[in-house]
Amino acid sequence: MDMLPLLSHPLWFLCSLVLVVVLRMQKKGRWDPKKCRVDLTGKTAIVTGANTGIGKSVALDFARRNGRVVLACRSRERGQKALEEIQRETGNRNVVLEILDTSSMSSVRAFADRILRNETRLDILVNNAGASGMPHAVTSEGLEVTYATNHLGPFLLTNLLVDLLKRSAPSRVVFLASLMHKQGYIDTSNLYGKNLEKQKIHETYNCTKLMNVISARELAERLKTTGVTVTSVSPGIVMTEAMRHYNLIIRVVFNVIGFFFFKSAEEGAASTIFCGISEEAEGLTGQYVNSDCVIELPSENARDPPLNRKLWEASEAATNRIGGPGQ
Ligand SMILES: NC(=O)c1ccc[n+]([C@@H]2O[C@H](COP(=O)([O-])OP(=O)(O)OC[C@H]3O[C@@H](n4cnc5c(N)ncnc54)[C@H](OP(=O)(O)O)[C@@H]3O)[C@@H](O)[C@H]2O)c1
Repeated sequence: MDMLPLLSHPLWFLCSLVLVVVLRMQKKGRWDPKKCRVDLTGKTAIVTGANTGIGKSVALDFARRNGRVVLACRSRERGQKALEEIQRETGNRNVVLEILDTSSMSSVRAFADRILRNETRLDILVNNAGASGMPHAVTSEGLEVTYATNHLGPFLLTNLLVDLLKRSAPSRVVFLASLMHKQGYIDTSNLYGKNLEKQKIHETYNCTKLMNVISARELAERLKTTGVTVTSVSPGIVMTEAMRHYNLIIRVVFNVIGFFFFKSAEEGAASTIFCGISEEAEGLTGQYVNSDCVIELPSENARDPPLNRKLWEASEAATNRIGGPGQ
């Protein structure tokens, strides 16, 4: 049957239009940052990986709310470009750039030192920087690069800044995890690049995202009485530069499908902004929040206290080796 006359029918056009509108509406979460009136005057936020994607949208939102925003980026050039754009769009001159490479524990320690020297308070820490699709490799500090970037760097950074967060309480920490954490598992020898022969690159990413959920839960437990709350979020599937380490075919497919189905960076930032500033999330701690800004039960592995403690201790050992106490 010849489909062309059918496809050019006005009804077909109308149906397609309705489908696109429905798909776009679905991409929007249930909580809209634009309707949230919270003002951040006098508050300080750090957003890691703030030069693009979700991190940049979060930083832009905080800057619009008059907060002091530290863009923690690994590239001075890319960070500076984002800084100028955010300052231009918001008129907020209280946005600053600091260099941070979360894959390097020395860089994390140097960044934290500068923050502790220069900032008097820290109200919101957003651990957003992350990468997927990087081939397995061990850094000069002896850590596997994706585990270092996505888990150990944010873990160490948060611990180094925890006293400042406590002094600024009520304060909040948000870890950017992912729905994919549900496919992750914990093998602490992976942190050093061991036993990865059978672990595919995307599985490594899933494991690090599980580690983000666990870090949030374990830290929340340890900070229970301090006024510092800790959450992990899924942003949904978001059209960003996240697929940059994958091959061209995967990138093209992601972008084509993403155009119709996936969230924009601005839409993907909603769950992070919700946990970082909203009145609704006040006091919310230890929880995993999905891309609709709704609390969701994380995977069984994330709800295993002995496993959580084991990962915490292994992460402490891995990061203390590099410039830590007793070094
Ligand atoms: N996009 C999604 O669908 C999705 C879904 C679930 C979770 N997430 C999570 O959301 C977070 C943000 O991802 P995105 O989608 O916005 O990706 P993106 O567009 O690739 O942005 C990632 C950001 O992290 C920074 N970054 C990467 N490695 C770093 C390092 N070693 N040190 C410091 N910064 C580093 C990047 O800096 P450069 O530009 O300099 O590389 C960039 O600013 C990630 O944690 C990701 O796992 C994303």
